[in-house]
Parts: sequence; structure tokens; C-alpha cells
Amino acid sequence: MDPAIKKKALRMITYGLFVATSRDDSGPAAGTINWISQSSFTPPLIMVAIKADSALHRAVAASRRFIVHVVGKDQKDLATAFFRGAELSGDRLNGYRIESSANGIPLLVDPPAWFESRVVNDVRGGDHTVFVAEVVEAGVRKDTEPLTLRDTGFFYGG
Ligand SMILES: Cc1cc2nc3c(=O)[nH]c(=O)nc-3n(C[C@H](O)[C@H](O)[C@H](O)COP(=O)(O)O)c2cc1C
Repeated sequence: MDPAIKKKALRMITYGLFVATSRDDSGPAAGTINWISQSSFTPPLIMVAIKADSALHRAVAASRRFIVHVVGKDQKDLATAFFRGAELSGDRLNGYRIESSANGIPLLVDPPAWFESRVVNDVRGGDHTVFVAEVVEAGVRKDTEPLTLRDTGFFYGG
């Protein structure tokens, strides 16, 4: 296999862009992710691939719960703010206001939509773990267009 062609082909997969949050005993964890898809209607399942050596992975593995926030078309700044680990200051995570979900997971106020999920399975392999999770709560704050990875010029894949 030609690695350059493999990279080019894999980067032609289309993605959205999301901010995932979770929590463990050491506090909140968060990260911008694009490796996510719905994977079942009944029950409503999603699958996300989380970097195995990240704080987000540690928190999801421990709490078995996380929230995925949809990033709006005009919220590239929000996506960029969560390329680094989570930093809590008052009621703000990486500068963005949060509430707490009913299950104690940090819930960002600004994104147009979110869904909270409970992990039902995990598939380890390579440098990311695929968490399969059931959507147990969801909210829509604004009916707007979501940001796509291609809109941003960023890449994560290949
Ligand atoms: C464009 C882009 C997409 C990303 N997508 C994912 C992803 O799908 N899954 C993931 O675990 N990390 C992804 N990351 C990495 C995280 O945003 C972030 O670097 C990581 O969660 C930071 O946590 P750490 O400091 O604990 O490693 C992506 C980064 C970029 C720049």
C-alpha cells in the first residue's frame, strides 16, 4: 500500500466537528472530536473513537458517560478551544460557559445541540478506543447548520 494514497483516500471521508465532555474523580475532561457516527436506531447508539492516552479517554472509561456537543457553522473558535485539555475556571471550561447535566457531566451552553450517552461497549485497538454508547438525553438550543471538518481546513485522519 502507498501510504500517501492511503492518507489521501482516508481524508476523503466526510466528518462533522463536535466537542465531547466527560468527568472523573479528578474533574472535567473535554476534547474536540470528529470520529463519530450514529450506529443504531433502536436503541439509539452512537460510536466515537477517543484517543487512548487522553484525559477524555480516562474520564469516559471511568464514568461510562459523556456528552457530545454539535459545533455550529459559526463556532470554529469553540472547536479550536478544545484541541487542548480541559481547564475549569468558575463556571467556564476553556473559556466557555457550562452547566451540569442531570448526571453531573459538563454541559456547554453555546453549542446548538447536544446528546448525552452511556457507554454500552468499547472496542480497543490501535491508538483510539471506539466507545459504543446509548443516547439517553438530548437537547436542541438553536436550529442551525453544523460545522463540518472540511469547512475548517483542519484534518484528523489518514
Ligand atoms: C481536527 C481535530 C480533530 C480531532 N478529532 C479527535 C477525535 O475524533 N477523537 C479524539 O480522541 N481526539 C481528537 N482530536 C484530539 C483532541 O481534540 C484533543 O487533542 C485531545 O482531546 C486533547 O486531550 P489531551 O490533552 O488529554 O490529549 C482531534 C484534534 C483535531 C485537531
